[in-house]
Amino acid sequence: MALSRREFLALGVASGAVAAAGVVVPVALLARDDEATDSTVPDPASQDPGTVPAVVTLYPRVKVASLSDLSRHSVVDFSYPTENSPASLFWLDRPATGGVGENGEIVAFSTFCTHMGCPLAGGYNSEHAVLGPCGCHFTTFDLTKRGQVVIGQATEDLPQIILDVDGDDIFAVGTMGVVYGFRDNLADAVVVEGL
Ligand code: FES
Repeated sequence: MALSRREFLALGVASGAVAAAGVVVPVALLARDDEATDSTVPDPASQDPGTVPAVVTLYPRVKVASLSDLSRHSVVDFSYPTENSPASLFWLDRPATGGVGENGEIVAFSTFCTHMGCPLAGGYNSEHAVLGPCGCHFTTFDLTKRGQVVIGQATEDLPQIILDVDGDDIFAVGTMGVVYGFRDNLADAVVVEGL
C-alpha cells in the first residue's frame, strides 16, 4: 500500500487523536477499505516519487481482563502479542498517557527490559507509578509516560500495549515499539490467539 504524503500525515493525526481519547483502534483499521492491510513492503523502485510506502501490521485482539474484576493497583500478567512476550496490565492511581478506563488509569506494557531483556514482572512501584528498578542494571520506567526511562542503562522506552475497553472487557489490540529480542513483534514466535 502506498499513501500520498497528505494521506500519511492524516493517518498519523488520526492515530494520535484516537489514542489521546483513550479509545484505541488498530492502525490497520484506519487504512482505506479498498487497500490491502498486510505487511508487504512495496518495491521502492516501483513507487510514484510523490508517495511513501506504509507498512501496516494487524495485531490480534485479545481479552486481558474484566473491569469488574479489577481495582486500583491491580496487576494482571499476560502474554502479548506472542506467547513469548510477557506483559502486564496496571491500574495506576493517576491518569496515564494512553490509559483507558474512566480516568485513563489503566495501562499495559511489555515486561522485557529494553536494555538487555531482563524480566521486569513483579517490579511495579505503585507509589510512583513506575516499573523497576530492573534487577539487572536498575533501569526504571514511567508507566504514566508511555514507558519512558526514568533512570538506568536502557535507552529505549518500554513498549506500551494498546488497550481498548468494550463494556466490561479490556482488550489488547496492538503494541507501540519493538519488544526486546524481537526483530518484529509478530515474528519468530506463536502469536497469541485473538477473538
Ligand atoms: S537489563 Fe534491565 S537495566 Fe539492564
